[in-house]
Amino acid sequence: MHESDCRQWLALAECAGRLAVLKSTPAVNPPLPNFVLIGFMGSGKSSIGRLIAGRLGYRFVDTDALVVRRAGQEIVDIFATHGEAHFRDLETAALESLAGEAHCVIATGGGIVVRERNHALLRRLGFVVLLTATEDVIFERVSRNSKRPLLQTANPRATISEMLAARAPLYEAAAQWMLDTSDLSHREAAEALIAEARRFFSCESAR
Ligand code: S3P
Repeated sequence: MHESDCRQWLALAECAGRLAVLKSTPAVNPPLPNFVLIGFMGSGKSSIGRLIAGRLGYRFVDTDALVVRRAGQEIVDIFATHGEAHFRDLETAALESLAGEAHCVIATGGGIVVRERNHALLRRLGFVVLLTATEDVIFERVSRNSKRPLLQTANPRATISEMLAARAPLYEAAAQWMLDTSDLSHREAAEALIAEARRFFSCESAR
């Protein structure tokens, strides 16, 4: 990242709570100044992401919402009519469409790490943070919402357990930092993430 870009990012980060004027920058390598949140369903990506975006005056982007908008169909209907593989294609396309965006908090769908080619796309976009939570907390959180097609099984608790075990190495491979949100309020998690992102981007600029 260019030093000036980094300084601008840090200045924006200092403006927590105020509305900042944002600009898009062309795609660069090392990563753009975005927060990229990955993690299992119910790990807090959307709630915490919205809070960070509000604090920094960043734009909040949700890859699930992008997929729905681009497909003109709800996720549950995409899975039902076209299957999971098609949904994954749309998810990768949504991620690709974000290339070059800056000053965004990007919450991703819980399965984004399943396609390994997405890992490089995530890294190129910014600081990739894995949000985790215990199995109990995840089960409790996702039980409030019945819209997730992959959890419409006879035993959602067992499904969560199996999926978590299968995905754990993928999440860890994709992430640059991780935060357990089980015992944190959304505000505490957002603050920890903002603090860590400042360190991350200042180290990147020193390279
Ligand atoms: C999925 C997670 C969902 C959504 C889709 C598939 C997954 O997103 O992308 O239902 O494979 O874990 P959230 O993590 O936002 O619930």
